[in-house]
Amino acid sequence: MQVGLKIWRYDASTGRRALKEYELDAPEEATLLDCLDLIKDRQDGTLAYRKSCRMMICGSCGMRMDGGAVLACCTPMLEIARSGHVPTISAMGNLPVVKDLVVDMEPFWTKFKAMKPWLQPGYVEPPEGKEHLITQPEMNVIHKESLCINCGCCVSECNAMDSDPEFLGPQALAKGMRFVGDPRDAAAVERLEAYSGEHGIWECTRCYFCNERCPKGVDPRDAIAKLGAEAVRLGIDRDMGAKHAKWFVTSAKTTGWLRETELVPKTQGIVRSIKDTKFAMGLARKGKVPFPFPQHVAKDVGESRALYDLVKTQGRDGATGIVQGEKALARLGHGFHDEGRDPYGPGSFPRPFVPEEEATS
Ligand code: SF4
Ligand code: SF4
Ligand code: FES
Repeated sequence: MQVGLKIWRYDASTGRRALKEYELDAPEEATLLDCLDLIKDRQDGTLAYRKSCRMMICGSCGMRMDGGAVLACCTPMLEIARSGHVPTISAMGNLPVVKDLVVDMEPFWTKFKAMKPWLQPGYVEPPEGKEHLITQPEMNVIHKESLCINCGCCVSECNAMDSDPEFLGPQALAKGMRFVGDPRDAAAVERLEAYSGEHGIWECTRCYFCNERCPKGVDPRDAIAKLGAEAVRLGIDRDMGAKHAKWFVTSAKTTGWLRETELVPKTQGIVRSIKDTKFAMGLARKGKVPFPFPQHVAKDVGESRALYDLVKTQGRDGATGIVQGEKALARLGHGFHDEGRDPYGPGSFPRPFVPEEEATS
């Protein structure tokens, strides 16, 4: 097949940047990585990119195709070539470019190490030197997070990192959840304290781009939601983000509505809210905020309260509630397969482990 590629070339030593177009003859089964190899081998040996395993394991070949992060080794080119489209290939976002498609991963690894990605001692050793046995329900909490290959595709697309490069980011926080949720780890509270600080859990803007781009189905945004839920469950709620989330729950439980007028004082505290009074009055004059009294209580508020009680009775506070949602979502077809639109090839959105399905299949 004939493949066309436009590649952003960059040389950090000179600062020169140029979009170069290549055309090549490649076998029909070629991936984007195969095409880059052919270009480097036959046309331009100066092209720089990273690769190693060629099978979605090492996480080296992250880059952008038409502005979205992909793993080059799992991006088939046949459909693109047939359509006549010439994709633009560039380095991943949110990391400094060293040369062409190679980024400096140092900031990535610094945040990774800040998560202390190893089991903290203090857990009870199993008897007679045997290994720890983890039950499947316990493993389900961190099943997806354990699949991460540190490729950086999520980091490349993170909106919060775009505005705050110090934000810990989706990969590091997913790694953090992998240990917070591990029943053998003895430092969940210390970890959550550390991850809840400035640039931590609550800085995520919930854009979900990390979930969309992760090639391994880790769903880092879900991992961050689990961290937030665990932090609130354990009373680590000093951050405004945590207070904000807690008020959503209280508001829904008491009146069945989100009482936005009270959201600001409940989240920011009285002193800060008084400073914003003038702004709030302006909004009220324009009819942008409802008057807080009398409180409007939804007709079916009983349903909202019953749901709250059910979560408490079933012990689904914290990460467990999010895992329950993952299983429910896993049963929903996203439609890509049927329509031949699975963005990064068949199986690029692997579903999490669902024990009941395993038992019946
Ligand atoms: S959901 Fe949060 S962590 Fe994920 S890409 Fe968006 S801002 Fe970043
Ligand atoms: S969470 Fe997914 S996209 Fe992010 S580094 Fe891990 S495997 Fe890559
Ligand atoms: S070369 Fe290893 S993940 Fe692509």
